[in-house]
This record gives sequence, structure tokens and C-alpha cells, in this order.
Amino acid sequence: MNILLLGSGGREHTFAWKIAQSPLCSKLFIAPGNAGTDSLGINTDLNVLDFKSIASFSVKESIDMILVGPEAPLVEGIADYFSNDTNLNHIQIVGPNAKAAQLEGSKAFSKVFMEKYNIPTAAYQEFNASQSAEGKAYIDQSNTPIVLKADGLAAGKGVLILEDKEEAKKELDNMLNGKFGDAGSTVVIEAFLDGIEFSVFVLTNGKDYVILPEAKDYKRIGEGDTGLNTGGMGAVSPVPFVDEKLMDKVKTRIIEPTIEGLVKDDIHYEGFIFFGLIKVGEDPMVIEYNCRMGDPETEVVIPRLKNDLVELFKAMKDNTLAKQNIEFDNRSAATIMLVSGGYPEAYAKGKPMHGLNIKTESILFHAGTKKSGNDIVTNGGRVLAITSLAESKESALQQSKSIAEEISFEGKYFRTDIGFDL
Ligand code: AMP
Ligand code: GLY
Repeated sequence: MNILLLGSGGREHTFAWKIAQSPLCSKLFIAPGNAGTDSLGINTDLNVLDFKSIASFSVKESIDMILVGPEAPLVEGIADYFSNDTNLNHIQIVGPNAKAAQLEGSKAFSKVFMEKYNIPTAAYQEFNASQSAEGKAYIDQSNTPIVLKADGLAAGKGVLILEDKEEAKKELDNMLNGKFGDAGSTVVIEAFLDGIEFSVFVLTNGKDYVILPEAKDYKRIGEGDTGLNTGGMGAVSPVPFVDEKLMDKVKTRIIEPTIEGLVKDDIHYEGFIFFGLIKVGEDPMVIEYNCRMGDPETEVVIPRLKNDLVELFKAMKDNTLAKQNIEFDNRSAATIMLVSGGYPEAYAKGKPMHGLNIKTESILFHAGTKKSGNDIVTNGGRVLAITSLAESKESALQQSKSIAEEISFEGKYFRTDIGFDL
């Protein structure tokens, strides 16, 4: 099978690493990929939003399957583009169509969906530009902190948590007036949930599903979960507090009603569903859905998966997903992300990296890297995810930390306290 993987981060290097191990994969292309994916397949210079070029490339290279890493092409309708064209619809797209991707693409859509199917989530209301006064009245009658969310995709920056009502009102107007562009033309205002976050992932063909190992990521830039939000600074899997009892609640109160709700609403969902959850007291609630795998969660979840990932994708299409027995490594996986100095604000690119040939059992998943002559240089905010597997979370973290110290580039920064709260 010829497979095209779209994206260029640590998530995509992890997928490439896993897919390259599958006997079902004959040729793997990664577009655009990074310096890490380069050794596992053929990096191809395609823009993930340029569906026309992706389509002609796919025909030319006899692609059978496209795995879509990031959310933007899904929300923009790449699956529909392929399924609506008789010359392309033989190609399996792993990732939902535009309607189904609204679970991530529109916070308002996902809140309406959760309310309709009684899926536990924070109380909320949505407001558009003509409802600023109503929004402010809603803030006045809400408890603090107050959570404001831009409805659309805002590259992970569209959520504000505010302690002060006056500031919340000001930010509501800023958002409605374009602070996050069109993404904020509708704003969801919701109650703050106090608890501990974790993530659960399923792969579904819209009817059957399999549950992958859970994970917890660390989004803040600073030690002790302080400072600005990032794409993710590290992750662990399994998550010690996610026991069988909690997972049963996740399954019956969240996963099953989600899949059943999609079927009832006639929304055909094929791909990963990422449930961003929070444990409040003893109960799980949904913070958000994503229509793709997480990054850096993928870097700990996929190395624990023993199944052939391509076989699972194929089973989605063949309607045999329900028969698949998911097996995972019982060891703990931990990943630590090396980032560029200044990230998530302005940072430099093009810094030569040293120590990547280090002899280690840890896996180095490239995120923002590229080749430059004989060098590998930094090419993004998040640069490298160092994943280790060990009998305990502590020893996996220790292994990743010691590699994080060995690898160097100018401005390197990483968090030393991933998993600190578990
Ligand atoms: P989201 O983009 O919806 O995942 O939100 C980004 C982050 O904001 C989440 O990972 C949470 O840490 C936080 N967050 C979002 N909504 C809430 C909420 N209702 N209560 C508490 N924290 C929240
Ligand atoms: N790490 C969070 C995400 O991928 O959205």
C-alpha cells in the first residue's frame, strides 16, 4: 500500500515511525515532513491545504491511503474533496469529513452536540458580534474564573481564562471585534471546571471504535504549569489516576454517547477522536473534542500501541474494526519536548543541532527540524520530542531528561517537571 502522511511535527514523525514498521506499507510519503521523517519515507513538498496538488500527487504516486495529521485540512474538507471525486474516492482518507470535523472546528457546534446527547461538559452560552450586551450580562451573572473561547480554530490560542469580570467583558469585545480573526466572530462563554486534565483517543469508522492508551500533556511553558500556553511541552501515558472505574465512566458517559450521537445526527465520522477531558471530583467531563491525534500525546500513545496501525486503518475501511484486539505495552511512556528559546512567543530558527546521533534506547521524534547541508537545524518552536519507555513513569522521565540535557542547540529549553502532579 502506498501511504501519504500529511503534516510536519512530532506527531507526524511518530506516525511515520509506526507506519514504516508495517508490512502493509510499500511506500511512505510525508508532506511536508521534517528532518526526522526524511529517513523513514520520502519527504514531499506539498502544502497540507492545497488539496488540488495533494490530489494530483496522489494519483501520480498511486496513493492508497492518506493519514491527515493536523486539524486544518480536515476542517477545510480534505476528506470531502477526495470522496466527492470519482477519480479520487478509492483513496482512503484517515480523518473525518468537514461536517464531522466541526467537533473541533466549532466550539459552539461541539457544545450544542454535547448538550443534545447529555455528554458532561461545562455550562455555557454562545454570543455573536450583535450580542455583546447579552454576553456581558451573562458574565455578570457567572462565577469567576470565566472561560472565553473563540468558536473557530485559533491555533490553540483561542481560550482565555479570566479572574476578573470587567476584564472578561473587555476581552469578549476584543474577541468579537476580531482579536482571533473570524474564529472569534462567535464566542462561547463557559463555566470554569476545577479538576485534573487527561486525554483519551479513539479510532472509529463511525460505527465501531477502538480505544487507544490515554495520556496527559503539559501545555504551559513554565515549570509547575505556569506561564503561557504552548502546543505541549511533554506528555505521559498511562495516566496513574485514570483507573478502570474512571475509564468505564469515560466509555459509558462520553465515548459511547458521542459515537451514537454522531450516528443519530447522520454525521459520518472516520478517523481519530481526541477527547480532551477533565476529572472533576470522581467524574470525567469534556473540555474539548479534537478531530485528530494530539501532539505530543501521539509521541507517548503510539509507541505503546502494539498493533499494526496500518492494519487498524484498513480495518476501518473493511468494517472489521470491531474485531481488532488492541494491545499495548504496559510500560510507561514519557516524552519531553525541546523547544526554541522564546517559544511560544517569537523565537529564532535555523540553529544547528548537536548530539542527535547519541546512542540511546529513547526515541527522538523530530518536530520543528530540517536538513541544511550536512546539518540538522531547528525549524520551529517545538523542535524535538524525546520519548522513553520504562517500567515506571519516573524512570522513563529520567531517561528522557538525561537525553534532553545531552542534545544541544542555541536557545534550547525544556521543562524538567513533566508528570510532576501525578
Ligand atoms: P481548549 O482549547 O478548549 O482545549 O482549551 C485550552 C485549555 O484551556 C484546556 O486544555 C484547559 O486547560 C483550559 N480550559 C478550557 N476550558 C476550560 C474550562 N471550562 N474549565 C477549566 N479549564 C478550561
Ligand atoms: N497537545 C494538545 C493538542 O494536540 O491539541
